[in-house]
Amino acid sequence: MTTYREVFERSVEQPEEFWLEAAQGIDWVTPPTRALDESRPPIYRWFPDGELNTCYNAVDRHVEAGRGDQVAIRYDSPVTRTQRDITYGELLERVSGFAGALADAGIGHGDRVLLYMPMIPEAMVAMLACARIGATHSVVFGGFAPAELAARIDDCEPKAVVTTSGGVEPKRRVEYIPAVEEALKLAEHPVGTVFVTARTGFETSVAEAASRAQGSPTRWLDWDEAVHEADPAECTTVRATDPLYILYTSGTTGSPKGVVRDNGSHAVALRWSMQKIYDVGPGEVMFTASDVGWVVGHSYIVYAPLLTGATTVLYEGKPIGTPDAGAFWRVVEESGAKVLFTAPTAIRAIRKADPSGELAADYDLSSLETLFVAGERLDPDTYQWAGELLGVPVVDNWWQTETGWPIAANPRGLEPLPIKSGSPSVPVPGYNVAVLDPSGDPVEAGAEGNIALKLPLPPGTLPTLWGDDDRFISSYLTAFDGYYATGDSGYLDEDGYVFVMGRTDDVINVSGHRLSTGAMEQVLGSHPAVAECAVIGVADPLKGQRPSGYVVLKQGESITEDELATELVGMVRSRIGAVADFKEVRVVEGLPKTRSGKILRKTMRQIADREDYKVPSTIEDMAVLDNLRDVLTCESS
Ligand code: COA
Ligand code: AMP
Repeated sequence: MTTYREVFERSVEQPEEFWLEAAQGIDWVTPPTRALDESRPPIYRWFPDGELNTCYNAVDRHVEAGRGDQVAIRYDSPVTRTQRDITYGELLERVSGFAGALADAGIGHGDRVLLYMPMIPEAMVAMLACARIGATHSVVFGGFAPAELAARIDDCEPKAVVTTSGGVEPKRRVEYIPAVEEALKLAEHPVGTVFVTARTGFETSVAEAASRAQGSPTRWLDWDEAVHEADPAECTTVRATDPLYILYTSGTTGSPKGVVRDNGSHAVALRWSMQKIYDVGPGEVMFTASDVGWVVGHSYIVYAPLLTGATTVLYEGKPIGTPDAGAFWRVVEESGAKVLFTAPTAIRAIRKADPSGELAADYDLSSLETLFVAGERLDPDTYQWAGELLGVPVVDNWWQTETGWPIAANPRGLEPLPIKSGSPSVPVPGYNVAVLDPSGDPVEAGAEGNIALKLPLPPGTLPTLWGDDDRFISSYLTAFDGYYATGDSGYLDEDGYVFVMGRTDDVINVSGHRLSTGAMEQVLGSHPAVAECAVIGVADPLKGQRPSGYVVLKQGESITEDELATELVGMVRSRIGAVADFKEVRVVEGLPKTRSGKILRKTMRQIADREDYKVPSTIEDMAVLDNLRDVLTCESS
């Protein structure tokens, strides 16, 4: 048996041979003759002369191979009490139908289409339909507010938006049509067509939106009618390097980064990862409880399972409350899932609601072989609890929107390695992981530093940011020459296991969702009573971190702390969205700063989390820090 070590070494020493071999897992129109294009460092491209279609690989080829009757998508929606199996044959029909409707609306190779959709089959159909005709999709998570949607519309300039009547949250219904209408008003870029797939139980219909949009550049179409009037579309051949999707993620500033994913290297990397990391093959069932709006959903709800010819579970529900903390176990039993993949926060939520895991005993979990988790650090308590409850390996894997698939994992299909609690295990083949000190020199095993990846990054990772090579280079490639900076800190131990300890920037992680404190600060700073502010992520036992805002009032302001908090919480919710989960505001006398004016956010967070901290010698005013310490320690006690 080939060992992990041998495969890893080959991947970094002979990348050309290694990835051309992996490329054989994909059906090409023009097979690549070269793997890596190094002609424009520090920007690298994979399979520069390959041509393919991602949708063909995810759908058509399985039907052609006689798997048309196999279930491709098992849609399980406790919030609407619906369960539906969609075979590969049906998926092909639905995807080509909607691809035809897109083509009729003038959308083709290279055009962008923005998707604002909850966890319904049409979201997957729309993604695949874009891939089919060579269009580039950009999915926006449903918890974002219209202003965030508008910012993404202006950045990627889509010809069409695809949406639905709404989404169902446990305590409320979220109306999508009015949100899209507002976003279109806020955006400068005119969108030609909005497709709406109708759901029952929502207030606004596509007909109402269509009539309100008269005289505007946008026409609103009902999905079913548009498909009915169009001829199904065939697959368009695209270059391996053409963009399949753009997925926006939080950076340190308020403006999100459009991570680009290409067609060819993405398909190769995901297909490889399904077998070697997740150990899921054709016909097997993968249940990834995330959302199609996040990268985990793109990769392991949609593309990787379908590229493999596996069955994917599309779960429209929560880990708890839909209806209870046994929901995941029910879905595992009913779908026969071999693998469950979710975020540690979901397991913590289940544990909180059902501490002894009694609900799991109601279900037959014998199909489950592995629980994978990602999105945030897997704390040892949660690791132990889940392992004891389920009796299967609990496998952490570390990655980012930018990489699209794991940087560090335990390669279950290659060589299951011993698991160390607190570590996502070892670097995945293709990723040359280094831990560097601030001047870019590697540190010793066991010493913490900046985790960086030696260039070139492997296939499947971002080649650039949408329309902005300069921002790509300045955000990721300039801190350490010849490396991609992950923005995470951590260490490698003596055995080469990676330990990821936290971010080195102002990005925080709330319930496995990556959020920018800078974006929240921009909103707080726009309130007329606020002189200055800081948002930090404080440790939270359920969500990992929660955002906490500290504001200094302008002189002479008499607004009370409660009034201001209500207004600021409302502003963040309406400008960024419910997903920001911003609920805490404190008024303070001042913010601790260095003499050059930099707010000491890290020190603030360390005080709030009761960690040891060093007061920087450059602090401007010690009294301000003393005052803040009283506020911070009293609220986290
Ligand atoms: N559309 C609209 N609103 C949404 C939304 C969506 N798709 N998803 C979340 N929200 C809203 C929620 O309704 C909530 O609003 P509220 O303030 O009115 O209650 C807010 O955003 C925060 O939601 P959430 O982060 O889900 O917190 P919660 O307290 O409701 O639930 C958990 C806590 C742990 C159960 C939940 O966060 C969870 O399921 N986490 C798993 C995360 C995950 O899968 N991450 C993917 C990365 S792998
Ligand atoms: P996102 O781009 O939203 O997937 O968030 C990526 C960030 O989440 C990473 O840079 C890490 O900070 C964090 N993260 C994701 N997975 C893990 C993990 N397994 N362990 C520790 N941190 C993680």
